Amino acid sequence: MPNTNIDELLAASINSGGLSQEQIAQILHFKIFGNRSGFLHLQGLPIGHIPATPTSREALAKPDDASEMCLLQATALLGQAIGYPQESNGAIINNFFPHQAHSKAASSDSYDTELDLHTENAFHAVLPDYLLLLCLRQDPLGEAITYVTSIDAMLEHLSNDDVAYFFNQKYNFLSDYSATSKNCRLDINKHQSVLYGDPDSPYFRFDPQFMVAPAPEAQAMLNHLNNIAWAVKQPVKLSTGDLLVIDNRKTAHARSPFTALLDGSDRWIQRTFAITGQHYYTEMLGKNQRVYDLVAEL
Ligand SMILES: [Fe+2]
Repeated sequence: MPNTNIDELLAASINSGGLSQEQIAQILHFKIFGNRSGFLHLQGLPIGHIPATPTSREALAKPDDASEMCLLQATALLGQAIGYPQESNGAIINNFFPHQAHSKAASSDSYDTELDLHTENAFHAVLPDYLLLLCLRQDPLGEAITYVTSIDAMLEHLSNDDVAYFFNQKYNFLSDYSATSKNCRLDINKHQSVLYGDPDSPYFRFDPQFMVAPAPEAQAMLNHLNNIAWAVKQPVKLSTGDLLVIDNRKTAHARSPFTALLDGSDRWIQRTFAITGQHYYTEMLGKNQRVYDLVAEL
């Protein structure tokens, strides 16, 4: 990654990120019209030469920035690329690969633990509208599966009463952000409904491991929703050069456990986040930024 200035890299990627006209059209079509599954799976991105997968952050190095360029080009088509201080120290491009020390952590650096269904940063007022996962290298045994479940697919299994319930019932969404550690459970007094927006085509935020129900009946309804979410999930296996674009306002995603060999052949994913409401956030927060600290309310 020779070019570390993100604005320069972003500008260069817009000019010459390497996406084909067809790939650009598919991304724009997904942005404008969406789809029932809530994700777009593209193949054959020009990711350049990929060295051995590192096994520590300190060893992270790439001879070129082709993968970063095409990932940023795709991100720019969807919105503004942003970061969060708690995710890779605010880096706009996050690199994930197995670390021995993090094998069982509920984080993207884990590998032998399943990551449960979640909408990315569901507790955050500035949550990503899209997340993009670019696969630099598949796991050596081909076990890793990303699951995406969408509210549009779930709606067929929900009654009108269920939909009304999840528009009205508030759950306490806990934050896992802290200055000192990941995967804590912080109460930031973020009480919000699972469904929001247009009742005919709702938005969806869902993170059952980090949602506290106010009563047993609300927990039972959450379990009911979780069963439907898993029943309609779509599995995606990412290979080298694959890009997965996820609509974070319509879906939750999960990841299966997989085997890591820690020998340079392991799974390597680059991730970005895109927001579409930058002007609104700037107006409400009085600051134009690319890296967003925790915002509980706008
Ligand atoms: Fe995630």
